[in-house]
Amino acid sequence: MKNTCPLLLALIVIGPMPVSPQTLREAANQRGVKIGAAIAPAHLGETEYAATAAREFNQVEPENAMKFGPIQPGPQTFNWAPADVVVAFAQQHGMAVRGHNLVWHRQNPGWITSGHFTADQLHSILQDHITKVVIHYHGQIYAWDVVNEAFNADGTLRSTIWADSPGIGMSGTAYIEQAFRWAHAADPKALLFYNDYDAEVMNAKSDSIYRMAKDFKARGVPLDGIGLQMHFKLDETRFASMEANIKRIAELGLQVQITELDVRIPVGPSGEASAADLRRQADVYRNAAEACLKFPQCTAIQTWGFTDKYSWIPHEDPGFGAGLEFDTNYRPKPAFYALLDALRTR
Ligand code: XIL
Repeated sequence: MKNTCPLLLALIVIGPMPVSPQTLREAANQRGVKIGAAIAPAHLGETEYAATAAREFNQVEPENAMKFGPIQPGPQTFNWAPADVVVAFAQQHGMAVRGHNLVWHRQNPGWITSGHFTADQLHSILQDHITKVVIHYHGQIYAWDVVNEAFNADGTLRSTIWADSPGIGMSGTAYIEQAFRWAHAADPKALLFYNDYDAEVMNAKSDSIYRMAKDFKARGVPLDGIGLQMHFKLDETRFASMEANIKRIAELGLQVQITELDVRIPVGPSGEASAADLRRQADVYRNAAEACLKFPQCTAIQTWGFTDKYSWIPHEDPGFGAGLEFDTNYRPKPAFYALLDALRTR
């Protein structure tokens, strides 16, 4: 040992020093949770887009490709290819896939929205849609957003083509329950989620979702978790209330997943944001991730996209943007380091 260099000696005696994870994916793997991003198949041909997604995430979800309109553009026409590209990319890189979504009031195809169907017809159309889509991805999608955004801010049920205009002929939350039962029949192993926005904290909407979830659990409806979208602004400070809401869902024996996190900030004409806002944005990312990760039932954190180059925010809310954890050049932002830190900390 006389001539052994001290570093080698240290390695022999104490073993290699644990290396702190440098990517979101490594940190999430060490912790045993999923870190995901919504992605668009059209961008996967861009080297930096694909490389960043594969390096940083162990889960993906198609941002639009599995929605009713895109995936079933005609009564007998299924457009599987774009969504299949996302699933193949995930498989190639050992990533889990979340499916989004089976029942929603937006992005439905024209043949349905202008079809003047009766409730009976819509009942069959929805059963057929859910069954065929879930079977197509049987065993390849570990979790589905079965029903998306079914409640209003005041906690009442949203009036939609599936609920009551004309609906599928089932009153109250029965149509939601039916959708979960159809999805479960098509892939009994897939985890089934109800997903919504502005229901992260204790409020009228999250109260209604909680009541529905409690009722579903009591009656054995196949509901496995609640997705909290988390489309936030900088003024999001209600993290204690968020924790209380996550706690009550977890206590029902359900999982909680952050499904669509982004934090929009004011931007200039070319998308630039102030350094102060980017720091405040990072705080929202950190607090949201920490609120969820406090609970073992919090099994995934996913952002709605990952690069500011491609984000729905500037289209949805002109004057705002820069909501994600990578900038338009795929450089990590303060929000990235906040997420990484939250994932590393126990
Ligand atoms: C958005 C997409 O990001 C946009 O590209 C599309 O034009 C509209 O839908 N809640 C959801 C997502 O559940 O499906 C939405 O995605 C954003 C809000």
